[in-house]
Amino acid sequence: MIKKAILLGVVSTSILAIGGYWVLKATAKSAPHYPVYDDLPTPAVIAHRGGRGLWPENTLYAFQKAVKLGVDMLELDIRQTKDGQLVVLHDEYVDRTTNGEGPINSFTLAEAKKLDAGFNWTKDNKSFPFRGKDIVIPTFQEVLENFPAQKMIVEIKQAQPAIERAVCQAIQAAKKEDHIIIGSFYPEVLKRFRQVCPEIATSASPNEVKLLFAAERLGLTDLLSPAASALQIPKQDGKIEVATPSFIRAAHDRMLQVQVWTINDPDMMLSLIANGADGIITDYPDRLLNLMRK
Ligand code: G3P
Ligand code: CA
Repeated sequence: MIKKAILLGVVSTSILAIGGYWVLKATAKSAPHYPVYDDLPTPAVIAHRGGRGLWPENTLYAFQKAVKLGVDMLELDIRQTKDGQLVVLHDEYVDRTTNGEGPINSFTLAEAKKLDAGFNWTKDNKSFPFRGKDIVIPTFQEVLENFPAQKMIVEIKQAQPAIERAVCQAIQAAKKEDHIIIGSFYPEVLKRFRQVCPEIATSASPNEVKLLFAAERLGLTDLLSPAASALQIPKQDGKIEVATPSFIRAAHDRMLQVQVWTINDPDMMLSLIANGADGIITDYPDRLLNLMRK
């Protein structure tokens, strides 16, 4: 009697699992497509924070120089000032990159604009060639307006207070919806952004990347319907190799673009190109451009 019940349980669970598999497979959708990916070369050369190895990060100066070099995309980070203005800054605090101290959300925009954003940039810890050169923290609007045709990865670094709506409105005002991919390490930021701004591409959250990674290992990627249209991933996470040929192939099967950060070594760039990466995010876009020209 008990044996019969167990057998019945196993059979019905298997039928449900197999049925569920086929339902998921039949209803799964590839990643949505956005115009930002059209006409991007492979690999796209993406200047991380504007190319922070070459000049002061996340500044108009850096973005101008990177564009002049010929990069395909700029990568930049967004936060908010005390008076609610969107500014381009990586850290929560201004200390590492400027001559100021304290969290950016304790500065009004006018106060933040007085900081020297080239103050701490150095190659050798001895000389500081960008000090006193009027290099300041830019607003997001300034960056959008100064680079109307430039494609960008915009990373939202702040989860609270929520700034997704303001980011979306700034992009819409600049008519740059087709030039931008929004990224964030915060799943809730991406979820909210997709709700308020579905017309703009987003990359996957770390959780979404992990899900795809696990699915690829189990051979189940064709059950997934990604909300993201790109993955921005590290080459490696601890000891785990992330940007492998098979993972990149699995992402491509779901129509996801794969952009890998932050790659500064030319040999590593070459290996990622061989693995099929669509974009390489680097502090030294000059190195990648030189490789591409060769
Ligand atoms: O796209 C993510 C990349 O920018 C790496 O993160 O810390 O440099 O903003 P982070
Ligand atoms: Ca970033």
